[in-house]
Amino acid sequence: MNDDLMLAVDLPATAIPDHTLAPDIVILAAGESTRMRSKTPKVLHPLAGRPLIEYSVRLAESLSPRLPTVVVGRNAEALQAQIGDRAGYVHQQQRLGTGHAVLQARPLLLGHSHTVLVFYADMPLVTLASMQALLALHQRNQASGGVLTLLTFESDTPRGFGRIVRSAAGQVLAIVEEADCTAEQLEITELNPGLYCYDADWLWRSLDEITVSPKGEYYLTDLVAIAVQQGCPVLAHRVSHPVEMMGINTRVHLAEAEAVLRARINRRWMEAGVTIVDPATTYIEDTVEIGRDTLLLPGVHLRGQSKIGEDCCIGPDTTIIDTTIGAACRVQYAVLEDTLLEDQVDVGPFAHLRARAHLATGVHMGNFGEVKNSYLGPGAKMGHFSYVGDADIGQEVNVSAGVITCNYDGVRKNRTTVGDYAFIGSDTMLVAPVTIGAGARTGAGSVVTHDVPPGRLAVGVPARLRPPSETQGE
Ligand code: UD1
Ligand code: CA
Repeated sequence: MNDDLMLAVDLPATAIPDHTLAPDIVILAAGESTRMRSKTPKVLHPLAGRPLIEYSVRLAESLSPRLPTVVVGRNAEALQAQIGDRAGYVHQQQRLGTGHAVLQARPLLLGHSHTVLVFYADMPLVTLASMQALLALHQRNQASGGVLTLLTFESDTPRGFGRIVRSAAGQVLAIVEEADCTAEQLEITELNPGLYCYDADWLWRSLDEITVSPKGEYYLTDLVAIAVQQGCPVLAHRVSHPVEMMGINTRVHLAEAEAVLRARINRRWMEAGVTIVDPATTYIEDTVEIGRDTLLLPGVHLRGQSKIGEDCCIGPDTTIIDTTIGAACRVQYAVLEDTLLEDQVDVGPFAHLRARAHLATGVHMGNFGEVKNSYLGPGAKMGHFSYVGDADIGQEVNVSAGVITCNYDGVRKNRTTVGDYAFIGSDTMLVAPVTIGAGARTGAGSVVTHDVPPGRLAVGVPARLRPPSETQGE
């Protein structure tokens, strides 16, 4: 509905939206998925950063405000752990076919919505547009007594799919499973992807009329012939992008779907103002956000809950996981995990940041450095070969080449604190717990085991304080 229109209507404060027109959605996920050859249930395998089942659930969420119902089998526990209360669950104890699977949802959904959508949990590429086309066609179909509407697609390699049998006049008559096809029917190239829209009352009533197949299964697809026998027209919308109808049965399919999703995600970001030099080697998970005018060089992997700001340059060959990056940052040949970069931070080449590393605005972190569970204040510099772990580094501090925070004493992790404007000389070992005061300095190669007061200079092994007069002179 048009938003303006909604605002124009004077609604009482307590008005609740009329959901009676919204469909109930049943997602079939009780399959055994043996062809994945995996300990993990098929629908929990990751695809572009989300488990497979997420795609069906998200599609359901964008189609209807009603809680979707997931039919689960032996994978119930793992599946519920993933989706939680974003769905209702019904168990299919025995795997007696897709018709039997939908039947399990009947006690939960009987008398709910007027319309029921059913789809399979292993189809991650279906778009909202295709499902909306299905719903729209179903509305038209209902007007002429139709109770069942479906999507179909054309393919020259129909292997494994149910065939759509039409009359000479083009009316849908039945879906025939491949195993039951005549030689003639095997030639049919219009196929059943498994996305259906039903009149709810009719569905719940007619499931009882499905008879068991020679294979011992109750085929949901038999409902097509049952509707036709009752004189109810079945309409089918042929989708124009057959790739959407891909079902995942093997790891080969998983990789194929990943390539399709990756191309879609990359296109989406390019259209939103992100430059991607080489989309073929750029891997952005569905969960990531990127600001405008950011440039992604080849070999970039952006994963998990990562957010990249505007005007950044990322890559080449950089992996960023669960990390937030501000505006105008430059990151090259680096691995960042669970890290926060503020604005204008410069990282790499060859840097590793992890475990709540936090680099404030204007930090320069050059080559071969690692920062772990530490804060580097505004404008701090660590250019070469340093390890900073469990440390708080003040603003404009200079961490010279080869500095190491010795944060682990074999038992505990200890913190290092360095005050603003301090200068840590090359190859200094900061043996934590230790504090270097603001403006203090350490000499090259010193091993600092005691705190250095503000403004003082410490040198040697172990480091000793130099008289204040000397400190001033330098
Ligand atoms: C089904 C269709 C076929 C269609 C194809 C598309 C039927 C009878 N056939 O065949 O026309 O071309 O999908 O991929 O529906 N499931 C359960 N419980 C069961 C059986 C299946 O939950 O007892 C679930 C599976 O987890 C899966 C979906 O239903 O998500 C489809 O089952 P599957 O065995 O893959 O059906 P196909 O033989 O491929
Ligand atoms: Ca299948």
